[in-house]
Amino acid sequence: MWDELQPIGRDPGTGGYRRYAWTPVDATLREWFTGAAEARGLEVVLDRAGNQWAWWGNPDETPGVVLGSHLDSVPDGGAFDGPLGVVSAFAALDGLPARPSTPIGIVNFADEEGARFGVACTGSRLLTGALRPEAALALRDGDGTALGEVIGVGPEHVGRDEQTLRRIGAFVELHVEQGRALVDTGDAVGIGASIWPHGRWRVELPGEANHAGTTALADRRDPMLALAALVQQVRASAQRHDALATCGKVAVSPNAVNAVPSSVTAWVDARGADEARVRAVLAEIEAAVVAAGGRLVEESWTGSTPFTPSLSRELQAILGPVPVLPTGAGHDAGVLATAGVPSAMLFVRNPTGVSHSPAEHAEESDCLAGVAALTAVLAGLL
Ligand code: GLV
Ligand code: MN
Ligand code: MN
Repeated sequence: MWDELQPIGRDPGTGGYRRYAWTPVDATLREWFTGAAEARGLEVVLDRAGNQWAWWGNPDETPGVVLGSHLDSVPDGGAFDGPLGVVSAFAALDGLPARPSTPIGIVNFADEEGARFGVACTGSRLLTGALRPEAALALRDGDGTALGEVIGVGPEHVGRDEQTLRRIGAFVELHVEQGRALVDTGDAVGIGASIWPHGRWRVELPGEANHAGTTALADRRDPMLALAALVQQVRASAQRHDALATCGKVAVSPNAVNAVPSSVTAWVDARGADEARVRAVLAEIEAAVVAAGGRLVEESWTGSTPFTPSLSRELQAILGPVPVLPTGAGHDAGVLATAGVPSAMLFVRNPTGVSHSPAEHAEESDCLAGVAALTAVLAGLL
């Protein structure tokens, strides 16, 4: 399975993956998912949010145990974030000694990274109703294409999907660790505890377009200076409040070497162990942005998200003493847990901790330990 997925959406220059939701590359990944499911006798259906579900048994009679993750990536992402959870789900199914009477589901969540339309976990948020259908359908990508034009579900059907939600008895998402906690504890596999509060904000910094060679410095309204101050402010505020904040995406207009820009748009991602410190970081950033004549708009916010404690305890009982870890990364399992769907996570050791990068990695032996743990969890929950 890993060999089949390896070339799909990989940029030969950077070695990173560009697997954006509802693009031709995503269609190829979805075909792969359907093929892997059908080869195992599972029935594949699309929900009202564009997520793919592969079912063994009839989940309308008895809710199933669901495994899976996502196949999309961030720009120039790694091979493991998402696909490891989907591949491990199929491998765990293969590892069962016999097919049970309890239904089993495997899910491929759509647009988990939000790389194309800007909202992370779009598929699970739409499924649970955390994202309103009108808001989702109106989201536009960088080329101006609306999500409603590409989601592959009629606009009148898009939205919270009660039937799909009723089918999920429990959801367990296996994921490559996006940090080095398991390196420090010396374990191949850990259990997720909770997701830090996190959000995304858009910063608009206006300026005045002008000639780079004829406009005196004193006469310029150059939004690049405000951007430089913003980047420094983001770092300083995160440091002051012991949080994380990143300015990782910028759009400069018109983006010409010999022109003072007319405007700059920048995006800020901020996360922290508790909501108060993330809000404190944002308050400082917003004050600086407003003082510079700009504005800050919240594009998404997710509060502190514990995974379902009773299910996590079941995983601990099945797996024995393994580390239980919080994470700063967002996941569909968190969205489901918040919506009241029993959800838990397993993490597989990442030797460098690097993620959202072509250098993201997990050793084959640790991936196999992850599959063994997921198989045990699946068998234990059935
Ligand atoms: C998703 O990986 C996120 O945490 O941004
Ligand atoms: Mn990710
Ligand atoms: Mn992920």
